[in-house]
Formats: sequence, structure tokens, C-alpha cells
Amino acid sequence: MKSYIIPFILIVSTNCLGQGFTPNYDESKVPVYELPDLLTARDSTEVTTKKKWEKTRRQEILSDFETYMFGKIPDGNVQVEIKTIKESDAFGGKAFMKEVKMTFSGNGKFISMDVLMYLPRSQSNVPVFLGLNFYGNHTICVDPNITVPTSWSRNNEQFGITGNVPTGVSRGVRKSRWAVEKILDRGYGLATIYYGDIDPDKNDFSDGIHALFYDAGQSQPEKDEWGSIAAWAWGLSRAMDYFEKDRLIDEKKVVLMGHSRLGKTSLWAGAIDQRFAIVISNNSGCGGAALSRRKYGETVWRINNSFPHWFNDHFNDYSNNEDALPVDQHMLIALIAPRPVYVASAENDRWADPKGEFLAAYNAGAVYELFGLEGLPSYEMPKANQPIHKTIGYHIRAGGHDVTDYDWGAWMDFADMHFRP
Ligand code: GCU
Repeated sequence: MKSYIIPFILIVSTNCLGQGFTPNYDESKVPVYELPDLLTARDSTEVTTKKKWEKTRRQEILSDFETYMFGKIPDGNVQVEIKTIKESDAFGGKAFMKEVKMTFSGNGKFISMDVLMYLPRSQSNVPVFLGLNFYGNHTICVDPNITVPTSWSRNNEQFGITGNVPTGVSRGVRKSRWAVEKILDRGYGLATIYYGDIDPDKNDFSDGIHALFYDAGQSQPEKDEWGSIAAWAWGLSRAMDYFEKDRLIDEKKVVLMGHSRLGKTSLWAGAIDQRFAIVISNNSGCGGAALSRRKYGETVWRINNSFPHWFNDHFNDYSNNEDALPVDQHMLIALIAPRPVYVASAENDRWADPKGEFLAAYNAGAVYELFGLEGLPSYEMPKANQPIHKTIGYHIRAGGHDVTDYDWGAWMDFADMHFRP
């Protein structure tokens, strides 16, 4: 078995206590760190077989991520009602557009999420990409038929959103991030959901899916219970429940894609729900694909302070205390094994620590080897726009924090390789 070397670099302390947080972008100031061992079980025995990985070690790591970071999804008695609300031709007849409303109820409350799908007309049982979006399904392309969400939205002057109310004015404003026609032309469908339908992205646990699960008298998740990322991941799994019932979709070939905070979400959703065939993380950074122990760009302290609702409250215990974390992010990627996983970075997206994303992807390879698979083919970080892949894929794109046609092209090549070898 190949050995996995963790780079040791001289310690220079990164001080990000209190208000004066300055992100570290100096590689020589990355602290010395040692990654928790993927293949040593809690009882100190070595994990040398896929059986032991699946039965023991995978469960331990999953439970650590649940307990200390993303939070446990509580038991609940949430009911689901599914209704097709729109069906039409799209893109000059080459695609079929469908909207399905999933309404969840519990504790006398209701939450609805709309799943928007574009499926190539020429096929049935299609493989699909599934991704959450930031400002509403109607922002992903200029199609007047797409329903505008009614849930809370972050304001955005440029997109015409004020008073936290989504508006038809933003139709198509995010079309550059969703290569819908290119996806259709390559024989894939695209499904998307507005993440705010599942849980509005603010530090308020009364208005999203969490409230449907509360015990009597509860108004906040418990310290180890789910934050918003786990809630968004829960929504993705409910979309998968639907795909299993829709004959137009090949539920065995669903590729989960997420950008940034939604890339953190796609990794966690892919870890807890093994029905997703391929998982893609784009520019997901801290709490996503980037190693926390490197403290490069955004840190655990910074993210917990800026976005206290994304993770559970236990995660605060690791602010400026990364070495005590029982996990690091190579382990999150390894939880996807043996399914293909792709990590994408961008050169100017230093906040997300491209090198930390690459190293996490590389180190996850030890688990793929247990399955007789190769993770990333090289320990060297590739140059910009030169994807490398085996069962783990990686590229660093020229440019900044974004999703581009270049990224989609690389992900479709990767999906083709695994679905249509
Ligand atoms: C902020 C945050 C990141 C996150 C990003 C995004 O920059 O610090 O962790 O990934 O927002 O979701 O766009």
C-alpha cells in the first residue's frame, strides 16, 4: 500500500483570537499538524480491509462528524406530500421541464421545497446532476415557467432582492453558474432546489425544517444536533426519495454537486446518504474539502463566528483548537468511498485554501485503496485547468470563487468516465 505523507512545515503560530482576525495566506505560516489517521480504529487496531472499514471505522468517523461538527438529525415524525406542479417543454423542445413540490409537515408546521428538473427529451431513465442553489430555482436560467420561491432570501441589490423576498426580477441572474443546455446536450438531466426552501440561511432555528422535528417545548437544536448544513443535506436526501419514484430519472446515477457552503453540504449529504452515486464539491473550503488543521484562509474560529448556524454547537469547541478535532476533512471525503468523488478548487479562491482541498482529496485515497481503487493519481498538485482523476478527481481552475462552464465540463467528463466507461 502506498504511504500517505503529510507535509510538515515549521510552526509559526497563527493568531486569530478576538476581533483582529487576519487570514493566513502564507504557506510558510501553516502550522505543523498531524492528520487523524483514517485507518486506525478507536481501539487502536489497524483497518486493513474494506469490511473493517465499512463495519467499524466508517461508522466511527461518521459518528464523529455528526457529534462534533454537522450535528445529528433527530428522530421525528415528519410527513411528506409530493405534487407535480408544472410540466412543460423547454429549450425549444429539446428538454422536458418539471417542477415537483415536496411539502413536509410535523408539529403542526409545514415547509415546502420545489424540485426543478430539466430532462433531455430524447431519453428516459436519465442520469442527473442535483445541486442546491443560492437565490431560487428561477435564477438558474431564463425560463418564464419556473416558479419563484416564497421562502426567505438574502437581499441582493444587484439581483433586485429587497425585504428578503425572492422576486421574478432575478430570473436567470445565476445562469452563468448552471450550464443547463450543455448538461442536456451531454445526455444528463439537471435538478435543483433553492436551499432557503429547506432552511433559510440565517441564525434562526424557528423558520426551517428543524422546527418540524422539535420535541415539546424545544426551540433550538441540542448541542449535538443539526445545524443548517445538515438540514440542507436532509433536503437533498428527500429529493433522492422522489427520484426513486420517478421513472424518468435513473436514481442509481445521481451526481450531487454543490458550490461553496453548498459544496460543504454536498460532501456531508454524500457521506450520510450512500444512494448518491458521485459527489462533487466546488470551492467548498473550510468545513468542506479543506483541511481544518492548515488554518489557511478561513479557519474554524472564523466560520463559527461568521456562520454560527451552519454547524452544531459542539463545533465551537474546536475554534482555535483544530488539533483536538477527532476528524479532519480528508475523512469527510473518505466517507464517500468507494463512490467517485471530485474536489474542485479555484486559483484565486485562497479563502477556501485550494492546497488544503487538494491534500484532503489526496489523503482520502487510503480508503479507496482498501476497495482496490486508486484515489488521486498524483501527490503533486496539478497546474490550473489540468484535471487529474481516478476514483477521486481534482482540478484547480484559473479564476475565482465561482462555478463556470469549465467546471461543468470537467465534472461531466468525470461522470461519463464512471457511468459510461
Ligand atoms: C463565505 C464563507 C465560506 C463559504 C462561502 C459561500 O465566504 O466564509 O465558508 O463557503 O461564504 O458559501 O459562498
